[in-house]
Amino acid sequence: MPPSLLPMPTLLPNFSLRTHNTFGIDAVADLCLPVRGVDDLHALHAALLADPALRRLPRLVLGGGSNIVLTGDFHGLVLHSCSRGIDIVGQDAQRTLVRAAAGTGWHALVLWTLARQLGGLENLSLIPGTVGAAPIQNIGAYGVEVERHFHALTAFDLDSGSVFTLDRAACRFGYRDSIFKHGWRDRAVILDVTFTLPRLWVADLRYAELATALAGIAAPDMQQVSDAVIAIRQRKLPDPAVIGNAGSFFKNPLVSRATRDALLAHHPALVSHDQADGSTKLAAGWLIDQCGWKGRALGAAGVYHKQALVLVNLGGARGADVLQLALAIQADVLQRFGVQLEPEPIFV
Ligand code: EPU
Repeated sequence: MPPSLLPMPTLLPNFSLRTHNTFGIDAVADLCLPVRGVDDLHALHAALLADPALRRLPRLVLGGGSNIVLTGDFHGLVLHSCSRGIDIVGQDAQRTLVRAAAGTGWHALVLWTLARQLGGLENLSLIPGTVGAAPIQNIGAYGVEVERHFHALTAFDLDSGSVFTLDRAACRFGYRDSIFKHGWRDRAVILDVTFTLPRLWVADLRYAELATALAGIAAPDMQQVSDAVIAIRQRKLPDPAVIGNAGSFFKNPLVSRATRDALLAHHPALVSHDQADGSTKLAAGWLIDQCGWKGRALGAAGVYHKQALVLVNLGGARGADVLQLALAIQADVLQRFGVQLEPEPIFV
């Protein structure tokens, strides 16, 4: 259909974001487009071409809002992925391809695969957020990152109005990073993601805490691995439905082994994990904990009492409260250890 004949998309004014960010921060977006599928985006693209004022508005692509900090009202257009659905789209002797719509809940996808004996995603159980958001920050937990089982995705380019496909290499995945945090940020809207799950499943128990939790079971199945991950997460991480938070607030910093060794000389209990590329990942939670921040608060924002890497909304926190707390923690860690912490969530 020519763009001029497409119906105007339904843009919702003064859209409250309070229930659309897991920090539970009360903020309002000027406009919101619920994206149910690609037709809504074609209609939006036609409207953007026709309306320069709409085109100039800042945009925010929003999934479950589990990795953002809203620092105020958003004077722009929110594109909210609402599409749902999961299908098997291919199968051979080695693998099964599973495609899920961007707005599908991440944990719902994990449960769907486990119910069909399709293993691979079990270590990523109970991560908040949506399927469409998973590749953006290459979600990871308990030794597995989503890139391992990522096959491809389709997305809509808001600038050109076209749909495109990216394979794993094109996504340039890194630790909590991908091309969607850089060149494609707020320009691409992910429509669906296809995962590749091995026919021959082997449990990945390299993460020590997970191995310990399953030590009593000789050959744990995928459901038992998932259950153990869920139990660990529930023990250590606050449920965003109860206490607002965005998971780990800082990335675990990557430093050289020489830097780690120098730190170890002064701090023998320092927690670090060597990486394949020769660098070392320091446990940011340990660094913050050592600075005495665990369980402390600054205004309505606090540090979770069971995991120092998680900042929480103690009730009515504004984005500015969270930011102030994050800056204070960064300053202390820098002063004590000479290490700069980088936030994991995106500030809006
Ligand atoms: N630690 C402390 N004090 C604390 C917190 C942690 O001493 O308050 C120590 C722990 O004892 C442990 C080490 O730090 O030795 C690492 O802690 P943990 O195993 O809890 O994992 P993490 O490094 O804090 C990372 C991810 C999590 C993921 C877990 C499990 C990042 C930024 N975070 O946390 O991801 O679930 O490993 O794989 O990489 C997220 O990204 O939102 C997230 C929750």
